[in-house]
Amino acid sequence: MDENKIESLKQEALAAAAAASNADELEQVRIRYLGRNGVLPAMMKGLKDAPPEARAGLGRAANDFKVSVQAAVEDRKSGLTSARQAGPAFDLSLPGRWRGVGSMHPISKVIEDATRIFGRIGFTVAEGPDIETAYRNFEALNTPAHHPSLDPGDTFWLEDGMLLRTQTSPVQIRVMERRKPPVRVITPGRCYRRDTTDATHSANFHQIEGLYVDAAVSLGDLKGTLEYFIREMMGAGVRIRFRPHFFPFTEPSVECDFSCHVCAGNGCRVCKNSGWIEIAGAGMVDPRVFRKVGYDPEAVTGFAFGMGVERIAMVKYGIQDIRMLYANDLRFLEQFR
Ligand code: DAH
Repeated sequence: MDENKIESLKQEALAAAAAASNADELEQVRIRYLGRNGVLPAMMKGLKDAPPEARAGLGRAANDFKVSVQAAVEDRKSGLTSARQAGPAFDLSLPGRWRGVGSMHPISKVIEDATRIFGRIGFTVAEGPDIETAYRNFEALNTPAHHPSLDPGDTFWLEDGMLLRTQTSPVQIRVMERRKPPVRVITPGRCYRRDTTDATHSANFHQIEGLYVDAAVSLGDLKGTLEYFIREMMGAGVRIRFRPHFFPFTEPSVECDFSCHVCAGNGCRVCKNSGWIEIAGAGMVDPRVFRKVGYDPEAVTGFAFGMGVERIAMVKYGIQDIRMLYANDLRFLEQFR
């Protein structure tokens, strides 16, 4: 090994590094000349056997080899990287990747719409728990213990007299227990009943409850409020009507229908030829309910209503089977934007 030999190995290595056309090839060059079993370590080992007077010159030459080849490898490496970056970042001829746009579930959509519609006339949203006391779900709502809805065949009872709420009405009680009148809330939420599932029943469904209590709230206010809501929800032309009914927590109680938004009341498949579609139970809050929450029935009056969210979604969007709402079938859900 002499200095000339080292110099020619260096030239060879520099040329190889410069000629590497990708990172793999360059790495092979580095391993061959600088790697543990490569040219450089062999050169260093050879230094020991060189005559003493030649060692200094050979050492300098070997060091020059090392520094030069390292620099050439680094140099080529950055050349390869910047060449890659300079190329086109995107292949504009490739078809794009479809990310799939999410859509709103019809139940959420009805709840959002209702929240916005009632929000415009001063109703705020209140919520309560799905697991409720028997007191708030029944007794405070003037529903006696012998009422059929308490039957274990109708209500999911839990331990210690707790239950899965059968209606959103107990949230009325929670709100009035906490706040002094006036009160103006809607309370959307999930409800549970021991119903056998079919095209129009589900053991788990949603309601939107409304409650308005103030110094002189009337049945006329109830009618005006529901009419406003249903027109916003179903269409400007619809009318509403009240039919007398009974609920333990309202007196008087009514059921509210709206004129069919599809046939304008003439009779069609959607309204089962009656021209009317039932939308809500409602009434004037019973004085007994006010007493339970510590309101003075001589000082305030109020109306309340409750409606099924699934039912509104079904009549509004023409959904024939309530089970479609829970099947998580994207072909169905993607239709709602
Ligand atoms: N909670 C009743 C139900 O589930 C609906 C209802 C009727 C709610 C009249 C009310 C009301 O607030 O006043 O059938």
